[in-house]
Amino acid sequence: MFSKHSSFTIYQEQPFNGGPPVAALPEQFITPEELFFVRSHGNVPQIDAATYRLEVDGLVERALSLRLVDLAQFTRAAQTATLQCAGNRRDELLALGPIPGELPWSADAIGNARWGGVRLVDVLRAAGVVSGAAHVHFTGLDYVEHDDEGFSFGASIPLQRAIAQDVLLADTMNDLPLPSEHGAPLRVVVPGTIGARSVKWLGRITLAAEPSPNYFQQRAYRLAREAAQEAAMLDTVFLSAAICTPRSGAQLPAGMLAVTGYAIGHGATPIVAVEVSCDNGSNWQCAELLDTPVTGAWMRWQIALDLGPGSYELVARARDADGNTQPADLGATWNGKGYMNNAWHRVALHIRP
Ligand code: MTE
Repeated sequence: MFSKHSSFTIYQEQPFNGGPPVAALPEQFITPEELFFVRSHGNVPQIDAATYRLEVDGLVERALSLRLVDLAQFTRAAQTATLQCAGNRRDELLALGPIPGELPWSADAIGNARWGGVRLVDVLRAAGVVSGAAHVHFTGLDYVEHDDEGFSFGASIPLQRAIAQDVLLADTMNDLPLPSEHGAPLRVVVPGTIGARSVKWLGRITLAAEPSPNYFQQRAYRLAREAAQEAAMLDTVFLSAAICTPRSGAQLPAGMLAVTGYAIGHGATPIVAVEVSCDNGSNWQCAELLDTPVTGAWMRWQIALDLGPGSYELVARARDADGNTQPADLGATWNGKGYMNNAWHRVALHIRP
């Protein structure tokens, strides 16, 4: 399916949803397309590049209807950014209780790419934002069904966030044309914000006083299922760290063990430390950080541990440049939709004599 690696875990064929082997994630700072997770609520829409239009409307001085060639009037921009789904690491939460109707992502719903395109702020400037506008709505060209209703995926971000230089309308991924499953011909990329706001197959941008009325903004992607209207709308990515190798349940020989993983700061603030414990958090050792800290991007890390025979639970936790830390226990992060699990990551191991 698409150009994904044969080792992809396919959670759903239609619409296609899948992620790479977690162990492969820390191998490269830039995740190759074939290892980049796909999260789609509907099938990839058929879009004819010749007739495609990006509509910009709502609280603007002049509505725009831009062809792909019209985007050439805007300065090209590039941004390295990690996309992480709010459901990343849901599989751990599933051990504490059922989460019906949601995909059992492991630590695989994350990837870091080099996005290229134009800045959203430049398109907004061309349309002229009028007073009263406080949110920027994005509507995809896909078709999603929910509760017997059909509609397009949509989301919004506050105008204040939308005008930052790092928010892109991307038409390339890792210097190649944006692949269809990642939103071609044009998608939004909002670094440091849950993946659901980075709308793929972008068809319309609407300036409004309130957040998007779309189901995926108003009802899904909140932290609770019951009383969904009271639960907080998700926005900023939470600080977290994941152990990618070894995998839980591994049986390994005694001796030096390479432990690798990734971490991402709150709102993708740069990571300043990752620590690993092999005694359930009593003692911690600092891991080596492998990348230059970049706002918006993850940090890969590694540490070598000398482990004798026995059973272990490896634990990882991170700290970002704003001093944020993570909750120790899964129970503190559990919620009925299984979003935003950023508890200390734990991996059970058995070391053979
Ligand atoms: N945009 C549209 N139009 N439709 C979708 O289903 N899924 C969102 C977001 N943008 C989605 C979308 C979610 S939940 C995530 S996590 C990211 O796309 C995933 O982006 P990717 O598939 O390129 O990894």
